[in-house]
Amino acid sequence: MSNPAAVLVAGSANLDFVVRAAHIPAPGETVLGREFSTQPGGKGANQAVASARAGGAPTQMLLALGDDAHAAPLLASLQQAGVALHLQRAEGTATGCAFICVSDDGQNAITVAPGANAALQPDHLPPLAGIGQLLLQLETPLPTVTAYALAARAAGLSVTLNAAPALSLPAELRSALDLLIVNEGELAAITGVAGDLDTALSLLSVPNVVVTLGARGLRARCDGVRLDQPAFEVPVVDTTGAGDTFCGALVAERLHGSGWPNALRFASAAAALACTRPGAQASIPTRDEVLKFLAT
Ligand code: RIB
Repeated sequence: MSNPAAVLVAGSANLDFVVRAAHIPAPGETVLGREFSTQPGGKGANQAVASARAGGAPTQMLLALGDDAHAAPLLASLQQAGVALHLQRAEGTATGCAFICVSDDGQNAITVAPGANAALQPDHLPPLAGIGQLLLQLETPLPTVTAYALAARAAGLSVTLNAAPALSLPAELRSALDLLIVNEGELAAITGVAGDLDTALSLLSVPNVVVTLGARGLRARCDGVRLDQPAFEVPVVDTTGAGDTFCGALVAERLHGSGWPNALRFASAAAALACTRPGAQASIPTRDEVLKFLAT
């Protein structure tokens, strides 16, 4: 595809408060952790950075931030990645925050305080001229996500939803999607079927569905064809943002002109590299890093 259209990501931006610990606390347990850091995060912003670094298409993001000091590092990270911003300021509201415990085996537990992300409204969608792909998640209000998907679909854009965190989806939102990206828990929340991937996939009428399976890779049904992509084996430091890296890289690589198998392989490699480094946006690789990894 020559002269690729832009990716527009509409979604959340959070400041991540991250503590590393030997293990993630069980309910009622207190764990003495170690290093603490604040990091730019939020599923929407992570996916925008992943799309921009994947280099397949110019990337824009619609987001809402509060008027507190937590907003500045989020803006800086997006701008450094080359993401063009459509910014809504939610006056008197806190910027979104996420509280993350990362265990020594790289797994995480995340609690999000949405703050300003909840202020994103249907009429905040910017003009869609020049946009080829709209990429959405579920950390902003469901009626807003649904309105954006329907507007983009009516304007002829391709609409992708990463249905995270897990929610059941209204039929009108599902009907507006070209691509749905979910993990197994999210797939079960949408279909009501757990533990049987093929049955769950058969219940979805969305034309393209990708189910990410962590260390087991992914299964997809794209244009009627079943595709399996094994995971790349890497030393895991922190899985935070790996799913977001996958989503942003996949959408950008599709706009870049890759067919489904190559785009899924590219996005899987980007996500694997993100697992080898700490942080969400800080861990997302560039296109050159992904191509070098794939070549070796
Ligand atoms: O997917 C990882 C992200 O989830 C974190 O960056 C956190 O902010 C939450 O949105």
